[in-house]
Amino acid sequence: MTDRAAERGPRTTGLDLHLGRLDGNVRACLMDAVRDAIRAGRLAPGTRLPSSRALAADLQVARNTVVRVYSELISEGWLTGFQGSGTVVSERVAEFFGERARPRPADTRSRPGHDLRPGHPDLSSFPRDEWIRAVKKTVGTAPFEAFGYADPRGRGELRDTLARYLARARGLRAHAGNVVVCSGAAEGLRLVAAALAATGVTRVAVEEFGLPTQRRTLADAGLETVPLDVDADGVDPSVLEGSSGIGAVLLTPSHQFPLGVALRYDRRAAIVEWARRHGALVIEDDYDGEFRYDRSPVGALQGLDRDHVLYLGTASKSLAPGLRLGWLVVPDRLVDAITAQKGDTEETVGFVNQLAMTEFVESGAYDRHIRAMRAQYRRRRRHLVETLAQHAPEVRVAGMAAGLHVLLEQPGRTGRELVQRIADEQLTVEPLSFFRHPDAASDRDGVVIGFAAPSPSGWSGVLDALVRALA
Ligand SMILES: Cc1ncc(COP(=O)(O)O)c(C=O)c1O
Repeated sequence: MTDRAAERGPRTTGLDLHLGRLDGNVRACLMDAVRDAIRAGRLAPGTRLPSSRALAADLQVARNTVVRVYSELISEGWLTGFQGSGTVVSERVAEFFGERARPRPADTRSRPGHDLRPGHPDLSSFPRDEWIRAVKKTVGTAPFEAFGYADPRGRGELRDTLARYLARARGLRAHAGNVVVCSGAAEGLRLVAAALAATGVTRVAVEEFGLPTQRRTLADAGLETVPLDVDADGVDPSVLEGSSGIGAVLLTPSHQFPLGVALRYDRRAAIVEWARRHGALVIEDDYDGEFRYDRSPVGALQGLDRDHVLYLGTASKSLAPGLRLGWLVVPDRLVDAITAQKGDTEETVGFVNQLAMTEFVESGAYDRHIRAMRAQYRRRRRHLVETLAQHAPEVRVAGMAAGLHVLLEQPGRTGRELVQRIADEQLTVEPLSFFRHPDAASDRDGVVIGFAAPSPSGWSGVLDALVRALA
C-alpha cells in the first residue's frame, strides 16, 4: 500500500455515519448501510447527511454513486432532499417503524413507504449523465438569440426533431409547423381547452374513467364534459353519434387511462369518421404510448387524420414529469388559435430543456432510454402479474401488457377496502372510483397501481407488501 493509500485507509468510516465496510457492489452496499443505520436509529429522522461530495470523498467512491444512492433512497422514502437544504433522513421513517404500522408478528422487518399512485416513472433511472451531456453540448454552443424571449410555439429545432421522431416512433403525420411545445400534457390540454372554448365549443366527450385534473381543466375553460362508456375495446363510438352538440372528444386510445384497454381498430376509424362528419376534434392523449410489452406499439390515431386529431405527447412517463416538457401536434387550421393561447412569447418552457431534449432525441439517447425502461417495466409488470397469480389468484389484473400502471379487481372487496389494506402496508394507491366521471354509468370498482415508480432495488419489497395486502 502506498503512503497515501495507507493514510486514506480502507473504505470504512463514512465520517461519523459509521457506515461500515463497503465491499463488492459499492452502490448496493452503501444503500444497505444507510438503511441499516436508519433502522438501528444511528441516523434519526431529521438528521442531515453529508453532501454527496463530502461522503464520496470520505468513502473514496465516485460522487455519482453517492448521488444515485441518495436519489434512490429518496424515492424509496428513507430520505428527503430539498434544493439548498441538503439530504435529510425522512421524518416519515418514524411512521414506518412506529405505532402507525400494523403489527405483524410474522414480519418484523421495517418498511419504508412508497407512492404507487399511477403516473410516476422510475425517477432513479433518469439518465442523468446523458441529459447533462445534452445540456452541456447544446447550451454551450447555442446562439445568443436562444437566451432571449422566444417563439410561443417552442424552439424550431425541437419542433423539427419531435416531428421526425413522432413520425418514426408513433406513426404521426407531423412537421415542425404544426408542433407546439408545452409544459407537459397538462398545459397542452389547457391550451386546447381554451382554444376550443374560444371557437364556440361547449361540450367535450371524455372517457367515463380518466384523470380528474383533465376534466377540471376542461371545466375551468367553461366546457361541459360528457362521459362515454368504455368496454374491453375502448370507448363506444355509437354513443358519440347519439349525443348532440359535442365539439370534441378526449381519448387515451393507445392505452386507456386507467382501465388499460386499447381502442379497437374499427372504433378508431369510426371515431375519426365521426369527427370528419361533424367538424369535431379528437384530442389524443398519448401519455405512455411507447410502453407496450406484448407487441410493438400501435401507431397513434393522429396518423389516420391529421386534420381532425390533435395529438398530446409528454416526456413525463418516458423521462420525468419534473422536466415539464410536452408537445402538441395540431391540425394546421388550429395552430394559430392554440398558439394565441400562449401569448406573444414562450412563458412556460425554458430553452435549456428544449435544447437538451432536441440533442437527447437526435443523439439516439431517447430511443435507448425508452428501450431500457420498456425492458425494465415489462419485467416488472410480468413479475407483478405472475406473483399475484400465485399468491392472490382471485385478484384480476385488468388491461393489456402496457404502460406504467395496472387496474386490480378483487371480487368481494371494494376499491376503498383494497386501498386501506394496501395503505396498511405503507403503500399509497388510488381506488378506481377516484378516476370516475361523476355522471358515469359504470359501477366498476378496483384499485389502480402505478408499478413503475419504485426504484429497482425497492421493487421486490413493494411487491411483497402488495401480496401481503391482497392475499
Ligand atoms: C392520462 C394522463 N395523461 C397525461 C399525463 C401527463 O401529464 P403531464 O405531461 O402534464 O405530466 C398523465 C400523467 O399522469 C396521465 O396520467
